[in-house]
Amino acid sequence: MRNGTGTGTAAPVVIIGAGHSGVAVAAGLRARGWEDGIVLIDAENGLPYERPPLSKELLKDSAPYEAAVLRKERFYADKGIDRLAGVTAESIDRNGRTVLLSDGTRQAYHRLVIATGSRARPLTVPGAGLPGVRSLRTRDDALELKRLLVPGARVAIIGAGYIGLEVAAAAAAKDCDVTVLEFQDRVMSRVTSAPVSHHFEQLHGRHGVRFVFGAAVTSIVGGQAIVGGQRAQGVTVADGTVFPADVVLAGIGVLPNQEMAADAGLDCRDGILVDEDGRTSDPAIYASGDVTRFTSPIDGESQRLECIQNALAQADRVAAHITGQVAAEPEVPWFWTVQHGVRLQTAGVRRPEDQVIVRGEPSGGKFSVVYLRDGRLAAVDTIANLSDFRAAKRLIAQGAPIDPALSADPAIPLADTIPTNPDHAGADLAAARS
Ligand code: APR
Repeated sequence: MRNGTGTGTAAPVVIIGAGHSGVAVAAGLRARGWEDGIVLIDAENGLPYERPPLSKELLKDSAPYEAAVLRKERFYADKGIDRLAGVTAESIDRNGRTVLLSDGTRQAYHRLVIATGSRARPLTVPGAGLPGVRSLRTRDDALELKRLLVPGARVAIIGAGYIGLEVAAAAAAKDCDVTVLEFQDRVMSRVTSAPVSHHFEQLHGRHGVRFVFGAAVTSIVGGQAIVGGQRAQGVTVADGTVFPADVVLAGIGVLPNQEMAADAGLDCRDGILVDEDGRTSDPAIYASGDVTRFTSPIDGESQRLECIQNALAQADRVAAHITGQVAAEPEVPWFWTVQHGVRLQTAGVRRPEDQVIVRGEPSGGKFSVVYLRDGRLAAVDTIANLSDFRAAKRLIAQGAPIDPALSADPAIPLADTIPTNPDHAGADLAAARS
């Protein structure tokens, strides 16, 4: 077996971070025949877990805590993956090829993989540190939030992205009184277009969730709790309005955990820069998952993706490169959220300037929104429309040209909306239809 250097070595592959991507690198190395050591450094205690359920199923009273575990305990033992739980990597010595750990020891590496993910963007207004103000990124965050979401609790959510809206749905289902304060003029504005935003806004409205748009939060108001000291009691916005709240959740985006890499001199720019094999600017160091920035093999754009699909795909590329093998073909990124039982599935990455075409009637509960860039399919949002979602992944990868008028008709399968006029589509047509 080739181990990446062409020579045998005693030092292991060291993976920093045990989220989806870090665990997948470890599993992928073994699946690809890596026989030397693998050390997985996990800042948290307990078994590595899945993140999507934290803002969904895990907030339900009925949810078993174990449901979110990525791999059972014996997997790590069976695969010879040396898991260091509750230990943080503090710094990287690139010359000595070691990592300094929080327990004071140094871990030598043959290859290092940085899979440190991202953290919740902190709320920085006065009062943000008061008890009762929470963010949601870790299992402990989710368990604490679950404890606070009791019937009748007044919950103010700052930010109407996936996190804010999924928590809003969970809180409404637990009979909390929910208000979402969003800076922009619609929900999920970073990731989707107005028709999808309006569909989900109405859905939340039917479940009693209130929205305040254009809300610039200026402070968290504290007050004396019945038991204990000061805690959050409300959120103030720029016009002076105070929204009373027992619980405040900030879901205002994430930041890549790139500081250790940047301190070690690796190239970073809102993410650790990596090539198509997951290599950083140091050939002995890879990075994988949310923490990376890379050039999209689909459209050539520089991007940092926050999704499991990318976490797993990059992990595969890193494991393949370390073992000297060929990785799977690049896949179109995809994303999903579930709110009040309604699933939004997105393929591709939309841009605000894309042409927007609605397929189907949103009020019927099943529709898609097609995003065209230079006449080609760039992304699709689908609601209860798995066939469009599946077709879109393939058509986006092919760079398929799409006829705007045809694609607006939901009765015509997406794959049949490729224009027949060769002047419009050029030579790619045949390939796109195949
Ligand atoms: N006040 C009000 N709204 C704000 C503020 C603020 N100070 N700052 C940001 N926002 C709004 C943004 O306008 C945006 O609509 O918060 C929302 C944050 O949405 P996202 O950036 O999508 O982030 P979030 O919902 O936190 O999700 C973070 O977790 O589940 C994953 O895939 C998800 O990658 C995403 C990540």
